[in-house]
Amino acid sequence: MDVNLKPFYAIVPLSLEDLFAKELKALGITRVRVEKGGCWFGGTMEDMMRVNLNTRYASRVLLKIGEKSYRNEEDIYQFAKAIEWENYFNSTDTFKVDVSSHRSPLRSLNFLTLRIKDAICDRFREFSEERPSIDKYHPRIRIYAFVDEKTCKLYLDTSGESLFKRGWRKDKGEAPLKENLAAGLLGLSGWTPDKPLYDPFCGSGTIVIEAATIACNMAPGLYRRFGFENFKHFDSNAWQNIKKQARQDINWEASVSLKGSDISTLIVERARLNARLAGLGKWLDDGKLAFFARDAREAEPTSEEAGLIVTNPPYGEQSNPKSASVASMMKNVADSFKRRFANWTAWLLTSDRMLPKQMRLSESRKIVIFNGPLECRFFKFELTSGSYRKTKVTGTEVSSVKEQENELR
Ligand SMILES: C[S@@+](CC[C@H](N)C(=O)[O-])C[C@H]1O[C@@H](n2cnc3c(N)ncnc32)[C@H](O)[C@@H]1O
Repeated sequence: MDVNLKPFYAIVPLSLEDLFAKELKALGITRVRVEKGGCWFGGTMEDMMRVNLNTRYASRVLLKIGEKSYRNEEDIYQFAKAIEWENYFNSTDTFKVDVSSHRSPLRSLNFLTLRIKDAICDRFREFSEERPSIDKYHPRIRIYAFVDEKTCKLYLDTSGESLFKRGWRKDKGEAPLKENLAAGLLGLSGWTPDKPLYDPFCGSGTIVIEAATIACNMAPGLYRRFGFENFKHFDSNAWQNIKKQARQDINWEASVSLKGSDISTLIVERARLNARLAGLGKWLDDGKLAFFARDAREAEPTSEEAGLIVTNPPYGEQSNPKSASVASMMKNVADSFKRRFANWTAWLLTSDRMLPKQMRLSESRKIVIFNGPLECRFFKFELTSGSYRKTKVTGTEVSSVKEQENELR
């Protein structure tokens, strides 16, 4: 193996692993091993920078520093102390350690976290008489340990803040989708920029904004910082070149139809502002990208050519007194879809398994996806021409289970 190739592990939401593996391939990375909830790959430090900048699906990219079998905390202390941390950061940097475990016999993860911190500080003190400080909230360096039954793996986080944060969102509003999940919905739906896209429950605009950045080929990480920028041997020149190339690759000429609407005018205003913050003002002004106020029960096609609806409507749990109204609203929404959106395909993300029944539609596909801790279904409905009948189920797919962002393998 090329000595410059380092082992990286990317944490990826469940069901999006294959989409991420395709991204790696497109970036020219060939040593890839897909796992449930993540993906290993071999690459150079430049590859790692390009993956952080360009991935739409991964939550975090970690550099594996070492792996060792252990019997107790003392073994892990010695293992962590033997690692040359001084090659990765300085004693003047702040750091944080996070530990996760799977079937580890160790009793206290807090104690283990403390011992790893001690090992790193003791190593620095021995070499330079100065030790780095801990910062729980905004550390310059993040270290992860994963312990299973017999082995401990140590990682340096190359991403810093989770990668779903594209750097443009100022106001979280009401439960927006994470941007990497929105990208995942678009990827799983098979949407491509040449197809009209409409989100009739757009909220803060996440799905449509993500689609617009895909369509104009804007790297998702162009406006944010990354953990690797704080590494000791960070190659700033290489990074500036990578970003320069990414800026040059943006293409505003694509012909697209990207629309979002919401019942709340206030929320629509926020979606427009978010699109500007995301650097998409040009397309808002051109009308290629638009947000407008509309009740989804009155939804109409946003282009002459049939396209895709990709959306996450409000959820109503069965035990929730609001559920009846959400259910009846969704029945009306479905009537409008069936009447007006002939030949469109609708993909809806919901935690409500009864949604197809409420809409009197049969799904042609469903994929299990976790929206945070909430187990959801991503339903596909083919809207046949003017039909009120149920479309025939052609096959049902349940792709995977639970997102476990914090579980490192
Ligand atoms: C789950 S949120 C969508 C969140 C969005 N994907 C985001 O990332 O911000 C559902 C949205 O549906 C809107 N909504 C509720 N009832 C509606 C209706 N009848 N027509 C259109 N929008 C509606 C709410 O205002 C809310 O913004």
